[in-house]
Amino acid sequence: MKNRLFGVGRLFAFLFAFALLSFVSCRDYKTPLSRGIIRSNWGSVGGKIIYLFTLKNSSGSEVSISNYGSTITRWLTQDKQGLKSSIVLGFDSLSGYLSKPPYFGATIGRYGNRIAKGEFKIGERTYHLAKNNGPNSLHGGLRGFDKVVWDPSPINDSLPSLTLNYGSKDGEEGYPGNLLVSVTFTLTEENEFRIEYSAHSDQTTPVNLTNHSYFNLSGDPSRNILGERLWIDANYYTPVDSTLIPTGKIDPVKDTPFDFTKPEQIGARIGEVPGGYDHNFVLNRKDSLLQLVARLSDSVSGRFLEVYTTEPGLQFYSGNFLDGRIKTSEGKPIGQHAALCLETQHFPDSPNEPGFPSSLLNPGDAYHTVTVYKAALAK
Ligand code: BGC
Repeated sequence: MKNRLFGVGRLFAFLFAFALLSFVSCRDYKTPLSRGIIRSNWGSVGGKIIYLFTLKNSSGSEVSISNYGSTITRWLTQDKQGLKSSIVLGFDSLSGYLSKPPYFGATIGRYGNRIAKGEFKIGERTYHLAKNNGPNSLHGGLRGFDKVVWDPSPINDSLPSLTLNYGSKDGEEGYPGNLLVSVTFTLTEENEFRIEYSAHSDQTTPVNLTNHSYFNLSGDPSRNILGERLWIDANYYTPVDSTLIPTGKIDPVKDTPFDFTKPEQIGARIGEVPGGYDHNFVLNRKDSLLQLVARLSDSVSGRFLEVYTTEPGLQFYSGNFLDGRIKTSEGKPIGQHAALCLETQHFPDSPNEPGFPSSLLNPGDAYHTVTVYKAALAK
C-alpha cells in the first residue's frame, strides 16, 4: 500500500514537473519582455539563439525584428479600410533569411552600398575587401552585418524598444579596427519606427550603417510599386557608371527622371533610367539634425510613409533585381519592382571620393545617426 501511494505520489510529482516545464518552455517561446514587446524563439545559427522580437503600440502597428542580421521581418499597419498587412517584404521563418535573400529588412554594415574595386586607402595603407558585386564590394562584403548574429541588450524602456549589439573584429571582411555597433529600434504611439545607430572603433575605419527594408505600401507584393508616388527632398543626385559606382559628379535632378522634388509616380519616367532607379540622392540640408527627407504614398491602400534622417544621402532602389525567383512565405513570386528601398546613408564609394561627406570614424569619436520611418494614413 505504502509502495502504491509512493508510486502515485511519484506519478503526480512527474506530472507536476512536466506541467511546470511545459509552462516554462511555452513562456520562453513567446515571452512578454516589457510593455509592448514580445520575444519568440526563431531557431539557432552557429550555436547562437535567434529570436524574433515584436514591438507593438496601441495604435495598431506592430514591427518584428530578428537578431539574425538585425533584420526587420514585418511591419503591420492598417490600410484605409482598417485591414492590416505588412508594408515591408519579409519571411515568416528564419529559413527564408538563411537562403540569402537580397538583404530583406537587414541592417547593412560595415559599409552600406558600394566601394569601387573593393579597395580604399587610409593614409598610405590600402585595404582590400571582397568583390561580391561585379568588380566592387557591396553592403559590407561576403558576410556583412546582415548575416551575423546580434546580441540583444536587456530591455527596460517605457516605449517598445530593442537594442541589438555586434562586435566586428579588426580585419573582418578586410576593414580596419574593432568596431562595436549598437542599433536601437523603437516604435512610438504615432507609428514612428525609429532606428538609432551607434558605433565606436579603435582604429580609423569607414562606417556607413543603414537598413535595407523593401517597402510596398499596398501590403501586397504582387502589386508593384510603380504606381506609388515618391517625394525626395533632393535637388541633386550622384550619377553612376555601368557598375553603379558614382562618377564623382553631383548633378541637378531638374529636367531629369530623378526629379522627385514634387511627388511623382515612380513608374512615370523609370523607363528612361537604364535598369531602373538605384541611385543616391543628395539630400537638401543645412545641418545634420533629424529632418523629413522623403514621402512615399499609395492611393489604393491610403497609406503613406515619411522618412526622417540625420544622414546626407538616400539610396532610392526600385527593386530592379527582384526577378520572381524568391517567393513570399505564402509562395507568391517576388517580381521586379515588387518593393523599393529608401536607404538613408553616406554616399556610395565615399572612401574613394574626397569630395563626398567623409564616412571615416576615428578612434575616440562616436558614430551616431538616426532614421525614422513614419507610417500613416491619408486623411
Ligand atoms: C543596391 C542595389 C542592390 C540591392 C540589393 C541596394 O542597396 O543599391 O544595387 O541590388 O541593394 O543588393
